[in-house]
Amino acid sequence: MNGGLVDRFGRVHRDLRISLTDKCNLRCTYCMPAEGVPWITKQNLLTTDEIERVGRAFAGLGITEVRLTGGEPLLRPDAVDVVRRLAAIETQNRRLRVSMTTNAVGLHAVMDDLVDAGLERLNISIDTLDRDRFHELTRRDRLDDVLAGIDAARRSGLRPLKLNTVAMRGVNDDEFVDLLRFAQAHDAQLRFIEQMPLDAGHIWSRATMVDGQEILEHLSEAFTLEPIGDRGSDPAEVFRVDGGPTTVGVIASVSAPFCGSCDRVRITADGQLRNCLFAREESDLLNLLRSGGTDADIAAMVRRSVAGKRQGHGIDGPNFLQPDRPMSAIGG
Ligand code: GTP
Ligand code: 5AD
Ligand code: SF4
Repeated sequence: MNGGLVDRFGRVHRDLRISLTDKCNLRCTYCMPAEGVPWITKQNLLTTDEIERVGRAFAGLGITEVRLTGGEPLLRPDAVDVVRRLAAIETQNRRLRVSMTTNAVGLHAVMDDLVDAGLERLNISIDTLDRDRFHELTRRDRLDDVLAGIDAARRSGLRPLKLNTVAMRGVNDDEFVDLLRFAQAHDAQLRFIEQMPLDAGHIWSRATMVDGQEILEHLSEAFTLEPIGDRGSDPAEVFRVDGGPTTVGVIASVSAPFCGSCDRVRITADGQLRNCLFAREESDLLNLLRSGGTDADIAAMVRRSVAGKRQGHGIDGPNFLQPDRPMSAIGG
């Protein structure tokens, strides 16, 4: 490795997030309009070979974990193959760690294949346990599929298994306790997430957001929570529940940003490199790959991008601009 990816603020980048597709089989109201968005065309999607090449190049730059995201990553027909190829890459005398964030709709059918391919960790989104509410929120009646997926993940033995719940006022803020009991029963760490201004409809409002403090107050009515120190680059503040073994996390990206310890870079499904979820500029890695760029060219592009990373997202600042792309097209 020729020196890691260190930015102007001393942050060392070890985590690469690759979006496999912007498509999704759900339509969560906070993420996508009912009709979807103009999808990335097939010829503009990174191919399996290109993803492997990118993974190898980033491993050489000090990246130790690749998280596959979407849209919904399992909609890519080659998802298992991508996992297998990335998990075979050697970095600093160990294999690249490969993880995935999924809505679990199609997980049940491929769980064993993913484990066999070398997947190490899974994060699953679940915002409600109520079937009608799930249907309303995601505009699809797929709660049973998601529950089957979570069950398959529990049985797979991949740990830690994490569940993600975006906290929404008037939508699921009466379910936090039930969701945590569900996570306990599934040997999973539930993380409550503050909603960020990334929705396609630009309707997010700071005033109605359920913040981390409120989430903790709510949970404290039913559970004893004990903070676990030293979170490193974990986006969540983690608490032991009722003395253990379950833990619960709060990702307070808006009210208590973790930008200071951010170790992530991301690549969109159409091969654009972003140094932040909220980045205003992208670097055209796809074009570089397809115009004969060498590994040295890729490394130079990545280093330039990391060098230009801003200190924080500035959601609360006067000059904040919501990214042009919605979350589904950036990769969660
Ligand atoms: P691990 O901590 O490695 O398990 O993964 P993760 O939590 O980073 O990944 P996941 O895809 O589960 O993301 C959970 C939530 O973290 C997302 O819903 C986002 O709200 C938030 N998140 C992920 N990446 C970023 C980021 O780069 N910046 C900010 N501000 N939030 C992020
Ligand atoms: N704010 C916070 N989290 C979000 N997610 C999607 N949109 C938002 C948003 N606006 C979450 C999903 C999933 C993860 C990838 O990102 O629920 O768990
Ligand atoms: Fe799909 Fe995730 Fe967006 Fe929901 S939040 S529509 S699961 S990409």
